[in-house]
Amino acid sequence: MRQAGRYLPEYRALRANHPMLEMVRTPELAAEVTLQPLRRFPLDGAIIFADILTPLIGMGCNLEFREGEGPVITNPVRTRADVDRLQVPLPKDNVKYTLDAISIVVEKLKESRTPLLGFSGAPFTLSAYIIEGQSPGDLALVKRMMLTDPESWHELQLKLVDLVVEYLVAQAEHGASALQLFDSWLGALGPSQYDRYVKPYLDAILRRVRERTVVPLIFFATGTAGILSELCALDTDALGLDWRVSLTCAKQAAGRPLVGQGNLDPMTLFAPFDVIERETRRILEEGKGLKAHVFNLGHGVLQHTPIENVERLVSLVRSWEG
Ligand code: CP3
Repeated sequence: MRQAGRYLPEYRALRANHPMLEMVRTPELAAEVTLQPLRRFPLDGAIIFADILTPLIGMGCNLEFREGEGPVITNPVRTRADVDRLQVPLPKDNVKYTLDAISIVVEKLKESRTPLLGFSGAPFTLSAYIIEGQSPGDLALVKRMMLTDPESWHELQLKLVDLVVEYLVAQAEHGASALQLFDSWLGALGPSQYDRYVKPYLDAILRRVRERTVVPLIFFATGTAGILSELCALDTDALGLDWRVSLTCAKQAAGRPLVGQGNLDPMTLFAPFDVIERETRRILEEGKGLKAHVFNLGHGVLQHTPIENVERLVSLVRSWEG
């Protein structure tokens, strides 16, 4: 999930002098932001500072991060001609800055043997931004293309599969220890839509990445209780879960030993510490039922999260002897 970000004063200090995209596209700055949370908290892993949307720039999407508005793509894709115009550049020609940032961070983390997580957006969620041009809302335009122009949808997915496969493999080659696919908007689909319009492309990515690297693959989506058993059946090494499902439910849905990651509601970090403690212990207890459990939030750290609560949460999990 998002570890770095605006809840950290040291992040805000850098951000005051550099726009978001400049931070991502300057390897030394991206490396520095990646390491900020690790200096503060004894975490088991780092996540590279980038964004799921930056690889879209090289495809021809005009991406902007607007203050107070979030990401915007000013030339959204709506027609077959728009899809045909999208390019699929190789990572070295598109996101070299992130690969260089990974190299810097991996070198700095070598001594402490802290793993670095690489990531990519998954095709559905990337499509949601590409088509809507902004935070997707009800995904009306996405569903319109999916349902009324399935050939354009298919072509778009094929391009994104190629983009994502190369991006993930390149991150592994630059030293990422594990790779996470984010499909944050997948919860907007029902099971038959998932089967037809999403699953084939996820399967293709996982199969092709596995042919070329051995690093563990994690899939994360939100609001997906209705397709949980389908997600558990994906060929991943771990499944990230948000707080809307319990780890126990996920275990039952999987019907096989499941490695789960999650799933404290990030809002819990605004509660009094006894509530944080209660919720965290419940999750850790439930995690014992899984093959393995990576404790995490169920989504990214929210902007106004009190840092002392993050600190106390980390030490609570660290000292847990369940
Ligand atoms: O911890 C880290 O630094 C990891 C880096 C990371 C970012 N975005 C940096 C970022 C990761 C893993 C992401 C993933 C991401 N980005 C997702 C998938 C995960 C999720 O949260 O669902 C999505 C959907 C995006 C798209 C995105 N980027 C949105 C919707 C926003 C605006 C919302 C917000 O919180 O500001 C961003 C901006 C963004 N990406 C920030 C960061 C640190 C905040 C930028 C700022 O400083 O203004």
